[in-house]
Amino acid sequence: MMVNKVYFIGAGPGDPEMLTLAGARALSHCGVVFAATPYEQTFAEHLAGKQVLVPFDYYFDELLERIDGFLNESDVAFLIPGDLTFYSPFQGLVDALGERCEVIPGVGTANAASARLKRTLDLPGVCKSAVIVSPRTLGDRPGDPTLADFARPGTTLLIYMNNMPLSDLVAELRGGYGSDVGIALIHRLGLPGEEIVEGLLSDIEGKVGERDFFNLSAKTKRPALTLVIVGESLIAHEDGTWWDHRREHIWRYRDNE
Ligand SMILES: C[S@@+](CC[C@H](N)C(=O)[O-])C[C@H]1O[C@@H](n2cnc3c(N)ncnc32)[C@H](O)[C@@H]1O
Repeated sequence: MMVNKVYFIGAGPGDPEMLTLAGARALSHCGVVFAATPYEQTFAEHLAGKQVLVPFDYYFDELLERIDGFLNESDVAFLIPGDLTFYSPFQGLVDALGERCEVIPGVGTANAASARLKRTLDLPGVCKSAVIVSPRTLGDRPGDPTLADFARPGTTLLIYMNNMPLSDLVAELRGGYGSDVGIALIHRLGLPGEEIVEGLLSDIEGKVGERDFFNLSAKTKRPALTLVIVGESLIAHEDGTWWDHRREHIWRYRDNE
């Protein structure tokens, strides 16, 4: 007997074109789908004929009870913004459901942003590490880390859910990097109203002007759909040197292999 399951589907940054084939297949056989804004709109075609609910309309236990009820009738899907790997609120549900659920990977915002900027975020000789961070989760107690602790030369920072005014953010990053590096603000990627602003720490404020990409003037506490990427990798030019180095020392087949 087939047992119904809950599928946590990495849905990408919002554009259904970024749903994976595995995600689309799982979604197609789920009669009930939990989807938060903007996914109920952008995925409307995939959701036609299904019961669509908003996950944050329920407290945790109530949500589990509802899922239990739905599972008697059909498979259930949760559309995960981006992918479960980072800054995803579903771990409690996944733990509670155990074997009764599956997680399907998706295109994280970081992946989609890298493609949109046409940039690999670590580059030999330029960037030694890439760090995913959010000022919302660093804490605000004395001794807690700040963004400046991560903003080091040779590090690309991917800043999610920024809640700092752009001028404060830039000042903190300049303190950490100690020099002018590239910065990109990626707003509503793959969604209506998408805006991408690329510049340097020294000129990004002028380029952004009055636009409130971080929803700082809004009443809502929901994080803005804006990813910030900072570092030398955004502005470095890669020639063929490392290609030839890798070919010679790593990838070229030799007779004795
Ligand atoms: C709660 S986190 C979710 C991250 C998600 N799990 C992922 O893998 O991309 C929400 C943050 O992700 C980023 N984000 C999500 N969707 C985005 C989009 N369409 N455009 C730009 N940034 C986005 C923003 O930094 C936003 O504040």
